[in-house]
Amino acid sequence: MTPNGVETVQCVYFSPTGTTRRTVETIAEGTGLRIADPIDVTLPASREEWDGSTQGAILVVGVPVYAGTLPSHTLDPLHRLEGNGRWAVPVAVYGMRSAEDTIEQLSGLLRTRGFKILAAANFVAEHSYSHDKLPLGLGRPDKRDLEIAREFGGKIAEKLESHPDELPLESRPLKYGENYRRKREDWPENRRWGSSTRVSDYDEKKCIKCNICVESCPSGAIDPETYAIDEANCIRCFACTRVCPAGVRQTRLSARAMTFFTDLLDAKKEPETFI
Ligand SMILES: Cc1cc2nc3c(=O)[nH]c(=O)nc-3n(C[C@H](O)[C@H](O)[C@H](O)COP(=O)(O)O)c2cc1C
Repeated sequence: MTPNGVETVQCVYFSPTGTTRRTVETIAEGTGLRIADPIDVTLPASREEWDGSTQGAILVVGVPVYAGTLPSHTLDPLHRLEGNGRWAVPVAVYGMRSAEDTIEQLSGLLRTRGFKILAAANFVAEHSYSHDKLPLGLGRPDKRDLEIAREFGGKIAEKLESHPDELPLESRPLKYGENYRRKREDWPENRRWGSSTRVSDYDEKKCIKCNICVESCPSGAIDPETYAIDEANCIRCFACTRVCPAGVRQTRLSARAMTFFTDLLDAKKEPETFI
């Protein structure tokens, strides 16, 4: 136990393609504290079942950046958290474009739930849209990113021991407001990446009917009988394209989106930690 009584860290995350999970788990490992079972709110059932209870004196809360903000599926679960004066570390994981002010938005939300902000970070990852013709951030978080995550965890533990002050990180309102719930038709016209990206049509001949895509969909948008995607509920996270062992589902980007993201291929992005 550290001198101020802190002994357990717990991760809370939403992570359709796994990079947010890897990042926050590595930060937690780096603290050297006991790690409680994570609160993984990626799947619909886990979001519904979780009653908001957490354990531990410090929460590492990880979200992927979606259009410069928190994915809408994170809003209900995060609003169920009860901080009661405990520490939180907001972490945004983004795919080579920009994290924008997601950690400030997440800090604002966590403060309204009664948390104090100890530290915060933006980490870099492979973009959800990355595929063979667009290797955007391929392999990230890489070894170096994860070393930085681990070191950041170590600094969090050190800071906890020193009777710390809150990190002077601004709180900002959620980009689309507290009650924003993403449905494709609700996106402002200029943010409708959803219309530029889609999962390919289902190829019945190739499908081995393993149902992994159905089970991995954060929106429950894939019909377990027909494997058709409910386009209105699909959030274009591309989890289904990553998990399919038969390559039945492919990532499709419009020409405009391909151009936009191809221009980012040479971008140099590094993690930023604030402590
Ligand atoms: C709908 C959508 C919107 C995204 N918007 C952004 C963005 O604004 N900026 C950015 O750099 N990456 C963006 N990304 C990429 C993700 O932030 C990135 O791939 C992240 O690592 C995904 O996390 P996960 O692996 O935990 O699912 C977006 C991805 C999706 C699916």
